[in-house]
Amino acid sequence: MKISRFLIKKLKETVKYAYAPYSKIQVGALLYCPDGKIYTGTNIENSSYSLTICAERVAVFKGISEGVKKFSLLLIYSPQYDFILPCGACLQVLNEFTPKIIVATMNKNEEFKFFPLFTLLKQPFKIRS
Ligand code: THU
Repeated sequence: MKISRFLIKKLKETVKYAYAPYSKIQVGALLYCPDGKIYTGTNIENSSYSLTICAERVAVFKGISEGVKKFSLLLIYSPQYDFILPCGACLQVLNEFTPKIIVATMNKNEEFKFFPLFTLLKQPFKIRS
């Protein structure tokens, strides 16, 4: 899969807004929708560490809170961490809204690795009904 220069530029710009004074790991996420819409997110840390939120969840919640239901691709990037992958909590949140999404992670050389969400989260938590 070829990721456009436009999306790579946007993903890199997103990282500028990361608020990570504690871990110093800046993370950017970009959710791409089938109609071309984009939702970005960064990690936002807190001095009370557990209140930190990851970049991926910020992007998903931005989209969901605007009524968007379809996402095709999640791009993620950290300048301090090659090929960063979403944490378990973010995988679970992604699975809730977009179980078929592809996660694309980028390194400093703008190379990508692609993972369908189900390969990263094999047994999501589900409420039995
Ligand atoms: N972080 C993310 O934003 N996304 C991930 O997938 C993993 C971790 C953030 C949370 C925290 O601000 C920093 O990276 C170090 O854990």
